[in-house]
Amino acid sequence: MCENLVGKTLKEHFLLEKKLDSGGFGTIYLARDTFSAIGGRYVVKHFSPRYENESQLKTAMRLFQQESDSLQQLGNHPQIPRIYDFFEEEQNFFLVQEFIEGQTLRQELTQTDNFDQSQAIKLLTQTLEVLKFIHEARYIHRDIKPANLIRNRFDNRIFLIDFGAVKEKINPKNFGAEGKFALTVGILSPGYTPDEQLHGRPEFCSDLYALGMVVIQAMTGVHPNDLERNINLELMWRDRLASHLVYDLNFLNLIDKMVKQKWQERYQSAQSILEDLEPIIITLNTGISRPAPQPQPVLLERSQTPETPQKTLQLPDKSNKFKILFGLGILSAIAIPLLLYTTNTQSNNYITYENEHIKLDYPAKWSREISSNF
Ligand SMILES: Nc1ncnc2c1ncn2[C@@H]1O[C@H](COP(=O)(O)OP(=O)(O)O)[C@@H](O)[C@H]1O
Ligand SMILES: [Mg+2]
Repeated sequence: MCENLVGKTLKEHFLLEKKLDSGGFGTIYLARDTFSAIGGRYVVKHFSPRYENESQLKTAMRLFQQESDSLQQLGNHPQIPRIYDFFEEEQNFFLVQEFIEGQTLRQELTQTDNFDQSQAIKLLTQTLEVLKFIHEARYIHRDIKPANLIRNRFDNRIFLIDFGAVKEKINPKNFGAEGKFALTVGILSPGYTPDEQLHGRPEFCSDLYALGMVVIQAMTGVHPNDLERNINLELMWRDRLASHLVYDLNFLNLIDKMVKQKWQERYQSAQSILEDLEPIIITLNTGISRPAPQPQPVLLERSQTPETPQKTLQLPDKSNKFKILFGLGILSAIAIPLLLYTTNTQSNNYITYENEHIKLDYPAKWSREISSNF
């Protein structure tokens, strides 16, 4: 099959209209479904590995099938393109997936200023949500980087693309002569790939490391390859933050924990980062610790930041106090004689009873009862 497939129709209805990109592993096309009345648009990924023999090809086909099955499961997430079809034709592998209209974060970063805190938090939380989903499905992406994140232009949602394990599993370099799969070539994206993955042992937190690097790049404009670690292995990046932007120190500490060199010292799950982000987001949304813009980057502990004025009980001022005392005086002048008068009136309301033994005054409201024993 020739290299440029523009104009070809696959499976009788996927017309390859335009080349979107081409990498070491093949080419990505924009395709149209000629069967569909509305001409739905798709992305077709074409892999064209070359195998030495039949058994290598058979293993690759089996692995491709397996991988495509798991991608179909993952495609049920609203931030992962759906997989519509996958097939093999004459040693060429094709994956047909949902077309996400928008820009990759890589393109976006070349056109925009450094992300402020709120943009960085949005990017982080959205990507963490999708990582949480794939990690819970026991899948490690292994190639988180700006070129593999697309922002949907309709609602700004971040999509994660390029589930690279497909190309890894059909890479002829990973096959022995008798077609046995043994990983020799990992996915390497310099700057984003952490040590343990470079040594062939990716962890879930390898994806979290790469995402931390992406967020740092978005905030500083510096590619992670151009950042260094100090003697304590801490990544030196805070001094590259834009001087007119202000960041919460808790947020910066959280990013630091994502990009620790030793994987054991990092966050181990997307969920635990989301949990630590929650109080930071609440604080920012309520504005309690949002400091006013400063000329220099100011790294603030939330406990140190100026608080919004709390609603307090307002005490009356001096003139109000006088008014209240004056009012109380007038009230007592009216109420006290009234009370005395009422009591007095009531006390005068007595009836006198008298017989040969006794004489007494009793309240008029009492009833009189004549008892024979008396
Ligand atoms: N589903 C998609 N929707 C829109 N564009 C895509 C899609 N998949 C890939 N692309 C475009 O093609 C490029 C390469 O695709 P990717 O899956 O990352 O393959 P590669 O293995 O070459 O990195 C992406 O950076 C993006 O520009
Ligand atoms: Mg890619």
